[in-house]
Amino acid sequence: MKVSFSRNLLFLCALGLAISCLAIQAAPDYIHHVCSNTTTIQPNSTYQTNLNSLLSSLSSNATRANGFYNATAGQSPDVAYGLFLCRGDVAIDDCRDCVANASAEILQQCSGVKKAIIWYDQCMLHYSNRSIFSRVEENPMLQLYNLQNVTDPGPFNQLVVDTMNATATLAANDESGKKFATKEENFTGSQTLYSLVQCTPDLSIADCSKCLEGAIGALSLCCSGKQGARTLTPSCNARYELYPFYQLEAGPLAPALAPAPTSATVLLPPPPAPSSKSSATGKAKISSQVIIDIVFPTIVAVMILRH
Ligand SMILES: *[C@@H]1O[C@H](CO)[C@@H](O)[C@H](O)[C@H]1NC(C)=O
Ligand SMILES: *[C@@H]1O[C@H](CO)[C@@H](O)[C@H](O)[C@H]1NC(C)=O
Ligand SMILES: *[C@@H]1O[C@H](CO)[C@@H](O)[C@H](O)[C@H]1NC(C)=O
Ligand SMILES: *[C@@H]1O[C@H](CO)[C@@H](O)[C@H](O)[C@H]1NC(C)=O
Ligand SMILES: *[C@@H]1O[C@H](CO)[C@@H](O)[C@H](O)[C@H]1NC(C)=O
Ligand SMILES: *[C@@H]1O[C@H](CO)[C@@H](O)[C@H](O)[C@H]1NC(C)=O
Ligand SMILES: *[C@@H]1O[C@H](CO)[C@@H](O)[C@H](O)[C@H]1NC(C)=O
Ligand SMILES: *[C@@H]1O[C@H](CO)[C@@H](O)[C@H](O)[C@H]1NC(C)=O
Ligand SMILES: *[C@@H]1O[C@H](CO)[C@@H](O)[C@H](O)[C@H]1NC(C)=O
Repeated sequence: MKVSFSRNLLFLCALGLAISCLAIQAAPDYIHHVCSNTTTIQPNSTYQTNLNSLLSSLSSNATRANGFYNATAGQSPDVAYGLFLCRGDVAIDDCRDCVANASAEILQQCSGVKKAIIWYDQCMLHYSNRSIFSRVEENPMLQLYNLQNVTDPGPFNQLVVDTMNATATLAANDESGKKFATKEENFTGSQTLYSLVQCTPDLSIADCSKCLEGAIGALSLCCSGKQGARTLTPSCNARYELYPFYQLEAGPLAPALAPAPTSATVLLPPPPAPSSKSSATGKAKISSQVIIDIVFPTIVAVMILRH
């Protein structure tokens, strides 16, 4: 579907709408990044060199079928560890574009730090001077929610929890090489709940479940009664909406893009770490910021700093 959508776009472009078409087609949708500024790099350091080569190795491996790659660069004590994860339904070309943009952006935005993460709708890229592979990384955690409320929150919240939980079980046990699942459920006659969860595929079944439990639990804490919400962490993410925001599996000609309603999304500061061993990740802190994504056919993101 994505393919035919792209072809249609190319066809329109050929008809002379090139500029707007290219703009719609290529740009990955940036969400947020976090630089861990407790880990600073000297300008000409070996770590910087390793980081550069890590990022180019990630970019050049962004055409993998499972949308995931982990890589290391350099020797101890300057090893750079990194990985990217593309959303499970994203086409390989879009994954590649997203990772390319992510690796260039993060170098600019987080220059001089050893540990950073950047999220887009289509992909996530994360690196550190400590191994981040095959372990649950829950910090930093970001949450965004749709500003629209549901009219009947009780039954809706229950449906969200049950559906997300079932989707999480599917994803954790996914043996396709991705740990990704989506699920639709009817809410009312006219409203369908769309849910999506994903772990980095280097996690075990148990670790993926644990990460998603945390992400889904955090959703009910922040976002009860919202028409949509998501939790993003380095190891997993979970999202639901009342409109399709991912590529639907069924139907040959389901719309490629969500019939985006006018809604908005707010970025919350992370909730206090839930009863946790203060995970040994760098002290990546997110200040109180609000991102408003006016969801139009293309997403416009504006960042407002509360202070
Ligand atoms: C990433 O993509 C955005 C949107 O298309 C663009 O404005 C930005 O310049 C790109 N960043 C880099 C480093 O190429
Ligand atoms: C790190 O970031 C925090 C929050 O953005 C800021 O308050 C602090 O001054 C920064 N520290 C350094 C060393 O840049
Ligand atoms: C990562 O870098 C920080 C700051 O330079 C350093 O304190 C820490 O020991 C490094 N971690 C590892 C595993 O090398
Ligand atoms: C960094 O490298 C450049 C070129 O290799 C050199 O000219 C410069 O003096 C170096 N700076 C430091 C602080 O080592
Ligand atoms: C992929 O990554 C490996 C190292 O992790 C690197 O040697 C290789 O050049 C990268 N690119 C491709 C296309 O495989
Ligand atoms: C990727 O991660 C696995 C552990 O999950 C590790 O064994 C492997 O060496 C890593 N690959 C690279 C290129 O670092
Ligand atoms: C949704 O509910 C919240 C809290 O109950 C309220 O502050 C907000 O204005 C509502 N949003 C809309 C779009 O009605
Ligand atoms: C939702 O309801 C429609 C008709 O009311 C039905 O065809 C469809 O299978 C239902 N979907 C799910 C996921 O239950
Ligand atoms: C789903 O819910 C069951 C029962 O409440 C719980 O044991 C299980 O851990 C949950 N699974 C996930 C992935 O959240």
